[in-house]
Amino acid sequence: MAFRKVHGRRLGRPLNQERQEALDKLYPALSIDSEVLDNSSNLLPSSLFEKAPEEIYFEIGFGNGDFLKKLIKENPDNGYIGAEPFINGMSAFLKSIKDIDNPSVRVWMDDAMDIARSIASETLDGIFILNPDPWPKTRHHKRRIVSQENLDQFARILKPGARLTMTTDVEELAEWMVTQATAHKEFKWSANRKLDWHTPPSGWLETRYEKKGKAAGRQQFYLLFEKKS
Ligand SMILES: C[S@@+](CC[C@H](N)C(=O)[O-])C[C@H]1O[C@@H](n2cnc3c(N)ncnc32)[C@H](O)[C@@H]1O
Repeated sequence: MAFRKVHGRRLGRPLNQERQEALDKLYPALSIDSEVLDNSSNLLPSSLFEKAPEEIYFEIGFGNGDFLKKLIKENPDNGYIGAEPFINGMSAFLKSIKDIDNPSVRVWMDDAMDIARSIASETLDGIFILNPDPWPKTRHHKRRIVSQENLDQFARILKPGARLTMTTDVEELAEWMVTQATAHKEFKWSANRKLDWHTPPSGWLETRYEKKGKAAGRQQFYLLFEKKS
């Protein structure tokens, strides 16, 4: 696979045999064909699945995929799309779902925006961006996944009333994401008061990063936005 430039890590430790096997077997079966990701905004996400899913959700930067796996197991009638360019994360996720029969998920080991730009308007029921890379240096802020340009795409592909869920344990990034999303004309913040920042949505599963942050004494921010109707 030819890699284009994505900021952050693609390769880490060498894969153990089980992860390599999961990648070799499941990535060809579950990945999205790069030819359909043509930035055309015409791709019907339901066409990626054998059986049209009831609802379709997109997770950006799923890491080891523990949250995505929970969603798949709990709601097998829904369809899930996950993007994660880091091969160790992708292989860990595929290994973790290898015993699920026909998992209703499609994956992409590259930039999530390839998917966002290709998907047809108002076709997604929700987007999750959990603990995105914080890029703390000011000169790197333009690499942050939550930007006006990317929010334009997220707003375009979400159905009216659908939710954009973002989390972080980095306070400055939480402020940034709230500022970006509230400045966007198509998103409405679902929080009633600042305390809601720290309340996870019901049925929440802590991701690997979230657990690490909490163990280190950091508070998690849950930022729930809605696409305006
Ligand atoms: C800090 S980790 C969080 C992982 C996971 N969401 C969690 O909470 O445990 C951020 C993840 O975003 C991924 N990532 C960074 N840029 C991305 C992009 N443009 N598209 C998709 N994923 C991206 C990274 O590879 C990394 O795995």
